[in-house]
Amino acid sequence: MTGTALLVGGSSEIGMAVLLQLLGPASRQVVLAGRPSGELWRNAERLRDAGYAVSTTQYDAGLNGDDLDAMLAEASAEQPLDLAVVAVGSMSSKSFEEGVVVNGLAVSLLLRALVRRRTSQIVLLSSAAAVRPRQSIAAYSLGKQLADSTAVLLARQAAETGVRMLVVRPGFVATRMTADLRRPPFATDPERVARRVASAVEYRKTVVWVPRVMGLVVRILGVVPRRLLPADWR
Ligand SMILES: NC(=O)c1ccc[n+]([C@@H]2O[C@H](COP(=O)([O-])OP(=O)(O)OC[C@H]3O[C@@H](n4cnc5c(N)ncnc54)[C@H](OP(=O)(O)O)[C@@H]3O)[C@@H](O)[C@H]2O)c1
Repeated sequence: MTGTALLVGGSSEIGMAVLLQLLGPASRQVVLAGRPSGELWRNAERLRDAGYAVSTTQYDAGLNGDDLDAMLAEASAEQPLDLAVVAVGSMSSKSFEEGVVVNGLAVSLLLRALVRRRTSQIVLLSSAAAVRPRQSIAAYSLGKQLADSTAVLLARQAAETGVRMLVVRPGFVATRMTADLRRPPFATDPERVARRVASAVEYRKTVVWVPRVMGLVVRILGVVPRRLLPADWR
């Protein structure tokens, strides 16, 4: 890959680990899209220190289709987009509606815009919760279901135009998003997610679970009566 690489959710811990794993050693243009924050600037500095030409642009979940097209046109002004990592997600939205929009509708619109722009490889950070929604994180789960399903549908259409889509379904990953939560079995970390993603991109997969066993765990949990499970697993 040699064109522009884009990370949407430019402050994300997992997003940054995935981006670093996929970028490769060659100097290239990298765009971090997100809301202004210390984490976003720190990620930009880290990439500059590693030798990449980095710019930042504003992304927030309130952008409409035209805003997204304009953002992507600006990001690909010098070189076409050949990689986009979508790492937007929030478990702490102020309302149910906002949770569904941030994690779902906004991400779906972004994925469609990325496919229209013929981004060579799109990586969506979805979640195991997209396949097995949990009551304790209902808005997050429903949003992730929408984003995940959009990506799976787009993957089929996009393949005909040379766009590849990878849907990543991690279980619990130790990051600032989960810092206040109890660490469950099969917890993993951003570097392991990044290594699994790199391998899945290499083998041109459409869906990858992290850790690998998470797909099986979700299937087993699906047949266990919810009342037998701890409250935060229901
Ligand atoms: N950590 C886990 O256990 C886990 C498990 C499965 C899937 N995931 C998914 O992996 C992705 C990365 O998560 P992470 O663990 O790296 O968490 P993170 O560091 O908190 O990253 C989340 C990203 O989403 C952005 N975001 C949240 N609300 C937004 C909004 N309204 N508008 C624009 N951007 C917004 C954040 O930007 P700000 O800095 O501006 O808030 C941040 O860049 C997410 O999609 C998450 O759902 C995480």
